[in-house]
Amino acid sequence: MPRHFLTLLDLQREELLALTERAIELKALRGRPEHPRPLAGKSVAVLMEKASTRTRISFEVGIHELGGAPIALVGRDLQLGRNEPLGDTAKVLSRYLSAVVVRTHGHDRLEELAAASEVPFVNALTDSFHPCQLLADLMTIREKRAAGLEDLHVAWVGDGNNMAHSWILAASLLDFRLTLACPEGYRPDEQVLALGRAQKAGQIELCASVEDAVKGAHVVTTDVWASMGQEQEAAARIEAFADYTVTAQHMEQAASDAIFLHCLPAHRGEEVAAEVIDGPASHVWDQAENRLHSQKALLELLLGPQASAPK
Ligand code: CP
Ligand code: NVA
Repeated sequence: MPRHFLTLLDLQREELLALTERAIELKALRGRPEHPRPLAGKSVAVLMEKASTRTRISFEVGIHELGGAPIALVGRDLQLGRNEPLGDTAKVLSRYLSAVVVRTHGHDRLEELAAASEVPFVNALTDSFHPCQLLADLMTIREKRAAGLEDLHVAWVGDGNNMAHSWILAASLLDFRLTLACPEGYRPDEQVLALGRAQKAGQIELCASVEDAVKGAHVVTTDVWASMGQEQEAAARIEAFADYTVTAQHMEQAASDAIFLHCLPAHRGEEVAAEVIDGPASHVWDQAENRLHSQKALLELLLGPQASAPK
């Protein structure tokens, strides 16, 4: 059974912390002769069934920098786009590749691919989870905050979407406080909340207002109001989320040294005010860069010489 990375719960707490530290080391080693090349002789596919800028480029560059060959695939160009079964596709891809990074729609689609595969599958975003983004977000907090990931309070503002779900799993794994402010009808999935809360005593709270959620938070983060695949709901969502823009006033209510994160792409004036995302508390460009380093650490864990079976 190959080692997949479909959600953050595919990592143990200690592995996630070690991966964060390794990502920081790989960042420092970038471009130096001693940078490791654990993927030498290996090919890794990056298969996209939705748009992507950061994920596809950071994975392709990362695979290359680890000595491997990145193979960029677009779902509709494969026989998959003409309804070849997911299981058959995964079995065939396994015969050529050392791993497959996939961005797709339903999470069940990724689970079906992974179940039939002989090589690791990595979740590059599904409708339900975006775990690779969290690797970069945790790394960015570790870099920017003096106390790192210790005694952490993160505030999530906006849609209870794939990113909110990933923060819930991160909070449960690392046992930090997560306060979420989401409009009625757009709260996180109950099953994901239950899954997060079932793990070791993470403090995951749904708040009645943005003010309640951001009060004293060390990190304030948000995401688009309409995710990929929800374009037709955009107008209704603009109305429903009208009170959920992260503003400079909210940042003032957070901790005095609070940082702002956003996975990007962003819509200024919708989920975040321009003065926040373009202001001094925002670290979104380092956060985007950290996708590269943290995913390299992940690929090293899954495919490198020390690659281990899931614990
Ligand atoms: N944050 C993120 O996943 O960006 P892309 O959609 O550009 O890959
Ligand atoms: N929630 C967004 C994240 C994009 C990186 C989406 O799924 O479109």
